[in-house]
Amino acid sequence: MLDVRRLISYLKPMAQRDILIVPNPVLKQVSKPVEKVSDKTRALMDDMLETMYAAPGIGLAAIQVGVPLRIIVMDLSGQDEEPTPRYFINPEILEDVEELLPWEEGCLSVPDFYEEVERPGRVKIRYLNYHGEQITEWAEDLYAVCIQHEMDHLNGVLFIDHLSRLKRQRAIRKVQKTEREKALDAAE
Ligand code: NI
Repeated sequence: MLDVRRLISYLKPMAQRDILIVPNPVLKQVSKPVEKVSDKTRALMDDMLETMYAAPGIGLAAIQVGVPLRIIVMDLSGQDEEPTPRYFINPEILEDVEELLPWEEGCLSVPDFYEEVERPGRVKIRYLNYHGEQITEWAEDLYAVCIQHEMDHLNGVLFIDHLSRLKRQRAIRKVQKTEREKALDAAE
């Protein structure tokens, strides 16, 4: 019997990629602009989205899968809502507001660590979407927090870089300890 979902997956092959975690030095790289939005760009974004959903997470920058390009995927829909993927190529912040919004952030590259960061609660952004069309819009609340967090990744900045040195070191040590334990479990 023909499995339609399988057929679709043949037509549109997607693959999960490995997410880099701290203190991998690749995460500190500054990503380069995308020169042309092509099918190759879209294939990368499809992979990134699948990787993000599987993690699961709400935002992912290309550098987190080791690709130093200014690309972000995001989905802020709730668990019981329709998936609403968003794609950002070469995003820029044109304007922001002075008022800061504190938000407890996490990051797929800093697993199981959460800490409050303050960022502008509204930002005006410009970017190219999945089809290479230019969009300009205001983002607010979680959307504003998430796009700023992800855009930091494009500049080699992690949310823990906004914390004190002590908290940052504690986060990295915690991640390293968990990874060592996972490696030991896998070896058994
Ligand atoms: Ni992150």
